[in-house]
This record gives sequence, C-alpha cells and structure tokens, in this order.
Amino acid sequence: MKTDGADSDLAPPHAASLAESMRAFGYDLATALADLADNSLFAGASHIRLQFHWDGEHSAIALADDGAGMSEATLVESMRLGSRNPSEQRDASDLGRFGLGLKTASFSQCRRVTVFTRMKGSAAPAIRCWDLDHIAKTDRWQLLREASPRAKKLAACLADQPSGTVVVWENLDRLAAGTRTESDAEQDAFLRQADQVGEHFAMVFHRLMDGHRRVEFALNGVPLKPWDPFLAGEEATQRLPVERLRCNGQLVEVEAFVLPHLSKVAPAVHLRAAGLKGWNAHQGFYIYRNRRLLVAGDWLGVKGWRQEEHYKLARIRVDLPNALDHAWEIDVTKSRARPPERLRRELARIGECARAMAKRIYSFRGAKLIPKEGEERIFLWHQKAKHGRVSYALDREHPLIRASLAASRSTGALSALLRLIEETVPVPLINITDREQPDQTSGPFETNRAAEIVDVMREAFGALTGSGYSTAEAVARLRAMEPFPRFPAELQGFLDDVSE
Ligand SMILES: Nc1ncnc2c1ncn2[C@@H]1O[C@H](COP(=O)(O)OP(=O)(O)OP(=O)(O)O)[C@@H](O)[C@H]1O
Ligand SMILES: [Mg+2]
Repeated sequence: MKTDGADSDLAPPHAASLAESMRAFGYDLATALADLADNSLFAGASHIRLQFHWDGEHSAIALADDGAGMSEATLVESMRLGSRNPSEQRDASDLGRFGLGLKTASFSQCRRVTVFTRMKGSAAPAIRCWDLDHIAKTDRWQLLREASPRAKKLAACLADQPSGTVVVWENLDRLAAGTRTESDAEQDAFLRQADQVGEHFAMVFHRLMDGHRRVEFALNGVPLKPWDPFLAGEEATQRLPVERLRCNGQLVEVEAFVLPHLSKVAPAVHLRAAGLKGWNAHQGFYIYRNRRLLVAGDWLGVKGWRQEEHYKLARIRVDLPNALDHAWEIDVTKSRARPPERLRRELARIGECARAMAKRIYSFRGAKLIPKEGEERIFLWHQKAKHGRVSYALDREHPLIRASLAASRSTGALSALLRLIEETVPVPLINITDREQPDQTSGPFETNRAAEIVDVMREAFGALTGSGYSTAEAVARLRAMEPFPRFPAELQGFLDDVSE
C-alpha cells in the first residue's frame, strides 16, 4: 500500500486494465471516426480525408486533416486521457467536451493509435503512439515516440501541406482480426464498412459540407456528398416557422419540416432521402450541436410516440450550442442527447404539429388536403373516433350516395350494402401490407389513370344531373369531389366536353 500523507492512500488506476476498459464507451466504427473528425473541424481543417487501407490483419485506417496541427508538447498533453476538464467553458465552436474522444474513439476500434501532427513553420511532424499491447505488457502509460512504417506511409501527405494532423489506427482487432489479405470476400466486407462510414459522415457533417464553411470530406480519394435530411431544396417540402426556445439562458432553435410525399419527388431523391437506416428510423428530431448532427431522427422518449410508417415524413431540426452539453446529457461518443425536462413540453408541441401534417400527407398521397380559401372538397370516407375506437364511415350526404339512394328501387338493400362496406373495411390487412411494403399501395386510379377516371366522371355526372342537379351544380360538385381534383387535366377535359 502506498500512503499519500498521513490520512490517505494513493490508488491510481492500473494502466493495463484501465486502458482495456476504455475500449467500451459505446462507439461503433462510424461514430468513432466522426469523433476524430470533430477534432479536425475544431482545428480549422478544410479538407478531411479518410483512408481505409486493406491488408488483411495488417489493415489500417487513417484520418488526415489540414487543420492547425499541434506542437509536440500539446500533442503529448492531448494524448493523455482526460486531457481537459469537461466542466471547463469551451470555445463556442468547439466540438469536444471531455478530453477523451481521440483516445476512447481510437481504442474502441484498434489496439494501436499513432498521431502525426505538424504546425505551420515546423520542419517535421511530431509523432506519438498509444499501443495497448505495450501498455498491457508494462502496466504503465508509456506514450511511444516511434511510428510503424505503415503508419508513416499513411501520414506521408503531411509533408505536402503547411500544417495538419493524421491519426492512424492499426491492429484493428474488431474489424480485421483473423482476415487474410488475399480474401476478396473479406476485403469486400472491409470496404463495405468504409462505405457505411462514408454515409455516416455525409449525414452527420452535412451542414459543414454544405454551409458557408464548405469543408471537403473524402473517402479513399472519393469526395463525399452531403445528405440533407430535410430536402430543403425540394419545392414540395413544407416547413413550420422557426421557433427559438430558451434554455439555461441559451437559445435552442427548432424548425419542423414535413417532407414531400413519394409521388412529389424524383425516385432517386426519395431513395437517397431514406437515409442509412431507412425512412422509418430517420423520423423525428434531428439534434445538432454546433451544426454537427448528434441524433438523426428520434422522438426523444415523448410518451406514446413511436416511429411509425405514417409519421416518417416528419423531420425536425433542433440546434444546440455547446454550452448546453450538460443540460442535454451529451455523452463522449456524441451520438446521444436527452432534452432537459423544461423543454420537453415545447418540443412535444412542435412534434405534434409536424406529426399531424406528416400523417395527412402520407395518408393522402401528397394531395393538398386543406382546400384553399373558399374551395370546397367532398370526401366519400370519414374517420370516426368513438370511445377511443377508430372506424371509417361513408358520408351519407355525399352527392353520389344521395343520388344513388334516390334512384334506387330498393333503398334497404343499398343501405345494408353501405353499412357492410363500412363494417368490413379491411383495415388490419391494409396495415400489414403497408408495414411490409411501405408505399406500395396504389393510389386512386394510379394504375389505369386516364381511361377509367373519365368514365367514372361521366357516370357520376350523369347520376347527379339525373337526380335533379342543374348542369352548373353538377359541374361544381364534380370539381370538389375527391379524387377528381387530383386529376386536373382529365377533369377539365371532361368538363369542356360537357359544356360543348
Ligand atoms: N486533429 C487535431 N488537430 C488539432 N488538435 C487536435 C486534433 N485532435 C485532437 N486535438 C487536440 O487534442 C485534444 C484532445 O482531443 P480529444 O478528442 O481527446 O478531446 P476533446 O476533443 O478535447 O474532447 P472530447 O472528449 O469531447 O472529444 C483536443 O482538445 C485538441 O486540443
Ligand atoms: Mg475530441
């Protein structure tokens, strides 16, 4: 036992075991690399390059930036676990918080991390390396000064730029242990992981790629394109007004987007907008900290809110400053956040609004459901809610139903038929189909558009005029009757024929 003064013992951590425990912070490959990129961004980088170098068990990954770099003394400090105190006030543009990321992110994926860094004016890069096998052997936090030939090769780009930093991961025991260089299948798997990281970067850094700063990211030499969750450039995207909420004397900016229905955007746009995890998983709040995305779609535990197909078009931007890290429970991996209690109600209110709009657009296939001022719409179906149960009813005031009842010789049979249709709407089947094959249910007249819809217009028009409507009245009814207004060309063509 080592005493430290009269009334305490010294009990520092064991290097060998603590270093191994530092591997389990909950990163995955993509979030770990993104944590490195955060450091590069704060160091002012304008180019960030990822290299996935395949060589079986000797594969390596490097992240290179052209930021300000570090002096040798700063590098040594930065390699220390807990290099900074999390309660310290940080520069408003700093993406770091804990003084851990570089180390914990690296250890989560590899057993050897080497950092090369060069500041403007310095002749050669400074180099330091943590090797978990070395720490395990010595049980001491001995920071090595030498790099492997492979790592040096991956960091060679530093010679051609005035300043910058390269982090090299070797001994990738989670990713490449036991693999053989010559195995095509294993190489493919490695490169697929690289692609996933590329997609993750395109998502979490999209506003840094796109915004005024325009940082360029590349993966194995190929530039990454930003992924905009909000389809802000699409005309059919709807936005709710920006709201600024107060939280601990800081402002949190919230803007809800309701994305266009599938039928309103090009298929390729719709496909890409689905995102890494698919449409359903990417609905909800998007939390950004200094314009860097932490959470890519989550309802943040609002009671009873699940990610469901019909809410998938709702995506809500939430912008936080880093001064709120503590209040939002930001963790080391920068992939989780939890709103403070006093903001939850406000966020739920905005979310409710976006969800309702998203559901309407989803259910009505992008048709403008809210008619313009003075514009009338006639719907055949109504949703009814009674004692918490939801059902669907045919509107008995619908002009075609009234006309049919009036013309029917057996109103009893017709009424019974309408009731049966209402009582047996195959809701469970529709639900299952929609869940299994989202967006595959066809819309009104989708498969046989022009030909049949005009026939149906003609029948409807005949029924209306036959039951006493004047031509002008019947025309007005037809113009308002769902789904005819969704086919303006066919409707106008038919009405032109009628008026001739
Ligand atoms: N690419 C880089 N360029 C310049 N300095 C860097 C770079 N990477 C790390 N640093 C320096 O190393 C320090 C430690 O980085 P590390 O990621 O471990 O912690 P942090 O960024 O301060 O906080 P966090 O744990 O939240 O990431 C940083 O504060 C920064 O000063
Ligand atoms: Mg960091």
